[in-house]
Amino acid sequence: MTQKGSFPMIPGSIGIFDSGYGGLTILDKIRTELPEYDYIYLGDNARTPYGTRSFDVVYKYTLECVTKLFEMGCHLVVLACNTASAKALRTIQQKDLLSLDPKRRVLGVIRPTVEAVGSLTITKHIGLLATTGTVQSNSYPLEIQKLHNDIVVVSEACPMWVPLIENNEHKSIGADYFVQKNLENLLQSDSQIDTIMLGCTHYPLLLDKIKQYTPENVRIVSQGEIVAESLKNYLNRHPEINELCTKNGLMRYFTTESVEKFASSASIFLNEEIQAEHLDLD
Ligand code: DGL
Repeated sequence: MTQKGSFPMIPGSIGIFDSGYGGLTILDKIRTELPEYDYIYLGDNARTPYGTRSFDVVYKYTLECVTKLFEMGCHLVVLACNTASAKALRTIQQKDLLSLDPKRRVLGVIRPTVEAVGSLTITKHIGLLATTGTVQSNSYPLEIQKLHNDIVVVSEACPMWVPLIENNEHKSIGADYFVQKNLENLLQSDSQIDTIMLGCTHYPLLLDKIKQYTPENVRIVSQGEIVAESLKNYLNRHPEINELCTKNGLMRYFTTESVEKFASSASIFLNEEIQAEHLDLD
């Protein structure tokens, strides 16, 4: 693999990638489930949000970040971003890994979520809340059809939710307007929905407000624990990858934007103070 620019080498860490902060909700649960592993978190905050960008742009940005994580020494990268999983994962797995390094692995968050959610619905009507990009990609309905062809998925794009969270406005009264509006749209489209998937890794930060505007008999499913459990199973089933992952309980955070801004916003997601490092992608 050709290496460009200077960056720290941290061989053996598991790479966790998101367009910004949302992947921290996944990282948090992964570290709870698998605390002994070493992790690098990379947030492409300079180019967030991905959710409103075209297929080609999300693919290009995601590939650049995955390549950088490989160059830093990751053998395994988790796209902790639904938009990147929807628009870039398949091409990276089927095409780019062959030229980058066929022994490395990239996993997404959509498949594990779909595997888990099938057993949760009784009415067989599921609602999806996600970014415009994830909804337009149709990835969730397609994956659900493959595994559970008796389940109906109704989707609602929530383009304002990520900007509200990224700007730390998710607890404001302004956020209520958008959460209520999108939930009403979703639930009015299909009155039989009994399970709602949060198909964006940012959305757990709005969970209190989402619950407030959702009837009690409708279950809300966040992805963190599902993805963490799925990663644990994956490492058990793939000892050849597991043995390449170092296990010293280390954590490093990288952002393509300002380290100060990342550290202060990341603490909202993680409820702990962290130190971040800057990463140039060129
Ligand atoms: N957190 C990302 C996801 O799960 C989306 C954020 C963005 O729009 O960049 O889809």
